[in-house]
Amino acid sequence: MPENPLAGLNPALMKAEKPVGNVLLQVGAFELWPAARRLRRQGKPVEITPRAFDVLSTLALHHPGMVSKGALFAAVWPGLVVEENNLQVQISLLRKLLGREAITTVAGHGYRLNLPVSSGHGAAVEEMPAPVAGPLLGRAGDLAELGDLLRHHRLTSLLGAGGVGKSTLARHAAPHAAATAGLPMAWADLADCANASELLETVARSVGFDGAAVAALARHLGQYPCMLVLDNADRVDRETAALAEELLARVPLLRLLVTTQVRLHLPEEQVYRLMPLAVPPAGCALPEALEYGALALLQARAHGHDHRFALTEAMLPDAVALCRELDGLPLALELAAARIPALGVAGLVRRLGDRLPLLVRVNGGGPARQRSLQATLEWSYRLLEPAAQQLWCDTAAMPRWFSLDELMACRGSRDAAATLDLLGTLVDRALLVFDTSHAHGYTLPPAHRAFALLKSVNACPGAATAQTNPPTT
Ligand SMILES: Nc1ncnc2c1ncn2[C@@H]1O[C@H](COP(=O)(O)OP(=O)(O)OP(=O)(O)O)[C@@H](O)[C@H]1O
Ligand SMILES: [Mg+2]
Repeated sequence: MPENPLAGLNPALMKAEKPVGNVLLQVGAFELWPAARRLRRQGKPVEITPRAFDVLSTLALHHPGMVSKGALFAAVWPGLVVEENNLQVQISLLRKLLGREAITTVAGHGYRLNLPVSSGHGAAVEEMPAPVAGPLLGRAGDLAELGDLLRHHRLTSLLGAGGVGKSTLARHAAPHAAATAGLPMAWADLADCANASELLETVARSVGFDGAAVAALARHLGQYPCMLVLDNADRVDRETAALAEELLARVPLLRLLVTTQVRLHLPEEQVYRLMPLAVPPAGCALPEALEYGALALLQARAHGHDHRFALTEAMLPDAVALCRELDGLPLALELAAARIPALGVAGLVRRLGDRLPLLVRVNGGGPARQRSLQATLEWSYRLLEPAAQQLWCDTAAMPRWFSLDELMACRGSRDAAATLDLLGTLVDRALLVFDTSHAHGYTLPPAHRAFALLKSVNACPGAATAQTNPPTT
């Protein structure tokens, strides 16, 4: 009968749900992930045959103990009868790789790894690299404030409209916050998760854990705490809230940054509301205007599409109008910039009445929800319950600025308390703007109004009488 390959395994490893499943071992100068079947030396991948890898993993996992030949055969060639010299071949390959003295032969019995083996604190989170971060424009203040929150809170939600730049800001803020906290960073993109098990799987993968149980994941994170970014959590907000709550309760050192349009509503949650990029005031001179994030982004992206492009004083009023009409939304500005080589800034502003078909990513690319302004708004719309969708449609029939009383009057017999709740949801999701400095208080950003009008006609028949152009009151 073959020997049990796990006999004699380090007791700390045996306690884990999948004992060899999620551990990074530092073996001399090498980093070894038994489950991920990865070997690196100072971060660089090392070539190794599969059998030699298995021998090394088995020896490392049993370190400092001796592993009998029988146990090695059982672990490396499970269920097979193989000649003894096969094992010797693998051992000599490993000696070439690790050094002649790295493996000691225990004559007549087996082998022992003769290198220091440790599983260091924190290092075992096998980090999923965060997406590459391009330059961050116009967000110096946000970066500092968010960094401050991340230092003081275990759960921070970066909340904002679709395409406002949540993920982009997180890419810049999280690595720094993780380094400050002395934690490794892991990054899980949840945009494609549709349910709790996909969420759990994605999060587990992001921290190099291959189990599928929350308790086991929590134990793993307890051993190897990290700064975990849960990016694009909107579609699985409830599932993310439940997972975050459980992980935070079980793992005292864990830090979470969640980017989402839908807040988690957890007591420990600290919300950072990301607003659109600042738009220069009318009449501002060019050098000063370019210090505003919206114009800086428009200029940078337009230049990217045509290296000859540079904003001039003559173009400035139109460019500022464009930024204002697009509400300083980075995604919309990017889509608009791609049209500048063909339409010019002034031509683009003139065509903004038709902004939804105009603001499309010309050559595809990027996540589907960001391929057009309409797709982004559709994504936000689908995140709403039907009653909130209806209210969004209804607001399109209101004047540009309107008060709560006017909205209530327009909605007639509908339950006032329910309307207030739904209004809160729309404001929370940045679909509706509440501005206390304005006498009437509420307004729809221009793109949200255009989208709501479109939906009114297509999906909310009750609101089909809405005006087709934004009212100007
Ligand atoms: N401050 C910025 N500087 C430069 N580019 C930016 C900035 N903010 C956003 N962008 C660009 O705008 C686009 C949308 O940004 P991002 O994906 O971060 O938005 P988001 O809020 O995460 O969107 P979603 O709600 O769809 O997840 C990206 O292409 C990004 O590169
Ligand atoms: Mg995002």
